[in-house]
Amino acid sequence: MIDFNPADPAFVADPYPTYRRLRDEAPVWQDPGSGLWLVTRFSGVERATADYAAFSSSKGNVVQDSPTRVGKTLGSIDPPRHDELRRIIQRGLGNARIEAMLPGIRAELADCMERLSERRECDFIADISQPILFGALGRMLGLDAAAAIRATELTKGLFHQDDGPLGSILPPETFQEIARFLRDQLDNRKQERGDDLISVLLNAKEDGAPLSDEEIVANVSTVLMAGNASIGHFFPNVMHALWCHPDQRRTLIEDPSRIPAAIDEAVRWDTSTQCFARQVVQEVEIDGTRIPADSRAIIFYASANRDERVIPDPDRFDINRARVRHFGFGMGPHFCAGANAARMMLKEIMRELLPFLGDYDLDTGRAKRVSHIMVRGFANLPISW
Ligand code: HEM
Repeated sequence: MIDFNPADPAFVADPYPTYRRLRDEAPVWQDPGSGLWLVTRFSGVERATADYAAFSSSKGNVVQDSPTRVGKTLGSIDPPRHDELRRIIQRGLGNARIEAMLPGIRAELADCMERLSERRECDFIADISQPILFGALGRMLGLDAAAAIRATELTKGLFHQDDGPLGSILPPETFQEIARFLRDQLDNRKQERGDDLISVLLNAKEDGAPLSDEEIVANVSTVLMAGNASIGHFFPNVMHALWCHPDQRRTLIEDPSRIPAAIDEAVRWDTSTQCFARQVVQEVEIDGTRIPADSRAIIFYASANRDERVIPDPDRFDINRARVRHFGFGMGPHFCAGANAARMMLKEIMRELLPFLGDYDLDTGRAKRVSHIMVRGFANLPISW
């Protein structure tokens, strides 16, 4: 008998024992309450990410997606159109473009450390993570200071808990507000180009790339949300992983060249993006269980990342682990388009921030976790140093 209750505070605090039970006892399991099929073993997740003919993204890749996005964003279309659109969008997220953002991130970080220099404690989310990452994201999208503040406000409701842990990720009206906000940004860029993602996509369109204004707006909104939800929750998770393992934290201060390995291990061990959704469009058998056509499946990347059938001693966090394949950034055609951007930004930030915060302490007793099945992260995280 599987006891699966994503609203249970014990699950929110630590979902990994539940994932283990699902992997062992029912690796493809239909939740009787929601009707969703949960896929939790490495083998099942690998199959689902590769077999997009059966596991389609065309109804959106979040549990309940919004009509303002579905069919327009990379995450909500299948190949071949997906691959065509992805080639265009990737131009705006290339390494050279992210490199160009790094001096801005360094300046933002210096400001942040200056503000904190007289203090010994703060909220890691509100005072460190959000200002730095949102500054970076604003720069990526070419937003001025007022627009960057507005963008931050608009995405604050992301993974709101009004609809419960399996509900929509944003209220429908906020999806529309974000689309309106980005539409205005697009209209501004039509008047005056910059060196930002919106301008890159607009230039591509005018050079003949098959890309509509609606697709530009929808995909830029994905980047805005990825910045808030994916990297915004992952950064505190890395800091939490290192706080749980102070010896490894010390290693990183002494040898910053290990930071990329630590980021990779943290995204395996405790990723912010725990699962994504797919629509099963033709009957499939997976890990010995049949899923009928027209079902909604939830693919648990975070569980596959801890599957002892494939990954040795998976519950151990070890920055010296030999490289393993994992799903921290997904797999297959929908592999995270911002993975390099995320790695480069975090490496830059952690190199400066870890020595500044030294042997920092987290007050997990006063911290509050986000409660949505798709996300693992903190709403607030008191830190002292
Ligand atoms: C540590 C931070 C991040 C994590 C853990 C993460 C994780 C993921 C995962 C697991 C997927 C696959 C979704 C699926 O299978 O349906 C994905 C897709 C995506 N991510 Fe990220 N992401 C991160 C940061 C970012 C950033 C910073 C950006 C943008 C700058 C970004 C942009 C995207 C886009 C556009 C997709 C859709 C790709 C496609 O469907 O082809 N991500 N991400």
